[in-house]
Amino acid sequence: MSRFIDHQYDVIVVGAGGAGLRATLGMSAQGLKTACITKVFPTRSHTVAAQGGISAALNNMGDGDDWRYHFYDTVKGSDWLGDQDAIAYMCRHAKEAVLELEHFGVPFSRTDEGKIYQRSFGGHTLEEGKSPAKRACAAADRTGHAILHTLYQQCLKHQSEFFIEYFVLDLLMQDDRCVGVIAWCLEDGTLHRFQAHIVVLATGGYGRIYFSCTSAHICTGDGNAMVLRAGLPLQNMEFVQFHPTGIYGSGCLITEGARGEGGYLANAKGERFMQNYAPHAKDLASRDVTSRAIATEIMQGRGVGPHQDHVYLHLEHIDPAVIKERLPGISETARIFAGIDVTKNPIPVLPTAHYNMGGIPTNIHGEVLKDNTGTIVPGLMAIGEAACISVHGANRLGTNSLLDLIVFGRSAALKAKDLIQPGAPHSALNKDQGEASFIRIERLRCAKGTITTGQLRLLMQKVMQHHCAVFRNHDLLEQGIQQLTLLSQTLSDIQVNDRSLIWNTDLLEALELENLMLQAQATIRSAQFRTESRGAHARDDYPKRDDQRWLHHTLYWHTSDKKPRFEKRPVRFATLNDAVDTLAPKQRVY
Ligand code: FUM
Repeated sequence: MSRFIDHQYDVIVVGAGGAGLRATLGMSAQGLKTACITKVFPTRSHTVAAQGGISAALNNMGDGDDWRYHFYDTVKGSDWLGDQDAIAYMCRHAKEAVLELEHFGVPFSRTDEGKIYQRSFGGHTLEEGKSPAKRACAAADRTGHAILHTLYQQCLKHQSEFFIEYFVLDLLMQDDRCVGVIAWCLEDGTLHRFQAHIVVLATGGYGRIYFSCTSAHICTGDGNAMVLRAGLPLQNMEFVQFHPTGIYGSGCLITEGARGEGGYLANAKGERFMQNYAPHAKDLASRDVTSRAIATEIMQGRGVGPHQDHVYLHLEHIDPAVIKERLPGISETARIFAGIDVTKNPIPVLPTAHYNMGGIPTNIHGEVLKDNTGTIVPGLMAIGEAACISVHGANRLGTNSLLDLIVFGRSAALKAKDLIQPGAPHSALNKDQGEASFIRIERLRCAKGTITTGQLRLLMQKVMQHHCAVFRNHDLLEQGIQQLTLLSQTLSDIQVNDRSLIWNTDLLEALELENLMLQAQATIRSAQFRTESRGAHARDDYPKRDDQRWLHHTLYWHTSDKKPRFEKRPVRFATLNDAVDTLAPKQRVY
């Protein structure tokens, strides 16, 4: 008898966050037999934590916003490393994407006229930087929550199938084509092979390589690690965004929307220091600029608290009625995690790892690329934070991530419909398909080493936090690489105490740690490779952007020897005129 339970679908989507659910919905609604495999219940996916909004130049607040300003801001915000065809596609489709969400039932906040409410966010401007734009479409400060629940309801309406609390171990690759995935059912311990004509990885980011991050514990970048294990590259892994306002101590997110509603940062002297770093945008400067400003204030001795190691975010001057209506979520978070009432006291904050700009390289249809000439991997797509399309380049603007999930979840579904016929037959799987993953899970299940997953994970997170955070330099990175190399070797000495396969969270976390470790190495090594400063990648020893040498994406391959393989991939440029002519929205519903 086979050790695997086999399934066949037209499409398998791995992950049920915003991107995964939007793709699942689009695939199902177009008649493709689609299953979504997810390690947590869909509405517990990390998109639920997105707060401030989803960007689209709707012009609902009458400020004259236009998708071309959105395009300009995103290109500039990416520090010119974003692929401009993809950025144009995203900004051009933003309006219809948000209106479609509204029609699906997302309960957006409203203006007095009943339109979708929009607020200011860092780096969102009108007329190429002249004045702040109100572009972030918000459902109070729980926008991700509202979107995620609505999309799940829509998927159920369209009879999408869900395999919930299944952990995908690996891609099934056959003759350089992806033909499915292998997964472990956490509830009953069975192993499953899912064959599909297209596999869509929507597995999110890997924020948990850091000690302090806004990401949920589930953000272990499982899809990225599967791609590395399949011998495929990841792109731009050195670019990790630090959100300026994580709560000091816990790292919980305080939305940038708080500054969009009038909040401001201050140092120990009570100075509004952002005017010294970004005289024009001030507290609404982009995140890389604001995070570096906070880190500099602290390094120069102007931090607050007994250890002078954080700053304050002030909201006390804002009308409590506005806070109650527009910022209820962060008021609650600040009460629980900082013990303060935001209408009376400032919130202690610190830059905290928030978003991975790097990930699985794709084109605008979500098709995965395997080299620097853009060769497509047949049968494999990636979307959302797991992917690097790259619309965010070296630095993402706030609220562009929710937009990215929706626009490219939809574009992947449209492309899949063009590529495959519903119900087309599957070719036979090789006899040994899945065996390598079975051996890996068995080795870990029986591991009798001396270090627990929790201990090893903490060591890794501290190395990344110390050696590869807001500011980097050669020596710091080199020490981090050495330490991380030792820690990754220590994986072979891991101790797993639960020998069962049923709800074995000990084993699950060990598997997730293997995934994290691969990405920590990719991140720190890519950071060492790029000898310039750009966007979120700030090197003290190379403080300038170097377009001559580095206006390129970096592709990283994991290798078993000590030396990883890197290649540079050209950034795609498009003039705005090309973008207008060639990227008009498709007149198709799903
Ligand atoms: O600050 C925030 O609400 C985060 C938004 C984002 O990362 O897009």
